[in-house]
Amino acid sequence: MAPTWASLQEQFFERFGQEPDSIWQSPGRINLIGDHTDYQGGLALPIAVPYSTWVLGRMRADQTIRVYSDYGQEEIHIQIPSMRSLAQNRPLRGLAGFVMAAWDLLRCEQGMDLLIVSTLPVATGLSSSASLSLGLLATMAEIMGQSVPQEQMIALARMIENEYLGVNSGILDPLAIAKGRANSALLVDALLQDARPVPFDYAQNGMSLWIIDTQTPRTLAASEYDKRVWETQEASRMLGVANLRDANGQSIERLADPVLRARARHVIRENQRVEWTVEAAQDGDWDRVKSLFWASHQSLSQDFMVSTAVLDQTVEWLQEMGIGARLTGAGFGGSVVALAYLGQGEDITRRLTQAYCEKGWHSPIFLEVRSPAEGLHKLTYERTQ
Ligand code: GLA
Repeated sequence: MAPTWASLQEQFFERFGQEPDSIWQSPGRINLIGDHTDYQGGLALPIAVPYSTWVLGRMRADQTIRVYSDYGQEEIHIQIPSMRSLAQNRPLRGLAGFVMAAWDLLRCEQGMDLLIVSTLPVATGLSSSASLSLGLLATMAEIMGQSVPQEQMIALARMIENEYLGVNSGILDPLAIAKGRANSALLVDALLQDARPVPFDYAQNGMSLWIIDTQTPRTLAASEYDKRVWETQEASRMLGVANLRDANGQSIERLADPVLRARARHVIRENQRVEWTVEAAQDGDWDRVKSLFWASHQSLSQDFMVSTAVLDQTVEWLQEMGIGARLTGAGFGGSVVALAYLGQGEDITRRLTQAYCEKGWHSPIFLEVRSPAEGLHKLTYERTQ
């Protein structure tokens, strides 16, 4: 359950003996369709989810930064004089790494107290790191009296990951989290670095949306992700296009290497599937949306090779139940997104829990998303009442 404004205030007071000056809520995101397209200028269809990171902050008069997160349950102290040089020591790691990166990018000079409260599962493909980055940037900027435009906020969040933490991620996650709209999906255009709200009224049409965290470690995620980025760059270079958004299905037949051809095929068709999903949702054709989910998963598994046996099997079981499902995010473990009928939740939970148990796998975790959530926003007393 989401913490209330009052309970957040209280937690901050208990820890730091003062009231916070600023509270921001930064949601996670789930990508409905359109994976591994953003770093080739492509399309994606994420929503912000209610599972979030809350960052509370207050300026201090001295040169200390104190940070407490309910995730790691430890209080970190960082002394400002050592910060600038520490922030250059990359890649940075852990919570202190995120804080130092945000502090450095915002060119802060002052000490502060920061409290981080989260209901967002970590390392499951819900983009907990972009959520944390944006929450920190928003709260830190506000307590320093800086007004940072949204576009710049998105760029800074991406810099935290790419330049400070050494993670080669695209623009999808910060864009989805910053621009998320309650009750809408976002059509992300990575080439324009923009996203616009589009209808995806599943709940109003008798459907429900589930995130199924397969509880499998994403060990290969970083190295294989980098490899896919390189392979798609190589494919677009060979096709003489700036990125695969500009290539078409016929032109990829010119690629002699079958691996590059398969990677390019995924990206080109996945962009198409995003457009078709938007149309189908607008028409209320949920069977078509389900088929597009399955096709997307097939393509991510066969052509793009970012799935795992557990993800494939989970999608297959769900498909047998008539539920639209696909891996979501970077893959190599993490979560499946599933589109079911309202009321199918109990069936999904029972069937998958039993099937996982029979295989000797850890039980999956089921999160229902009743409706798309609002993106990054400041939390005030009125807003939560
Ligand atoms: C990760 C990256 C995103 C995107 C997805 C795959 O979440 O951070 O930029 O590439 O994988 O769609």
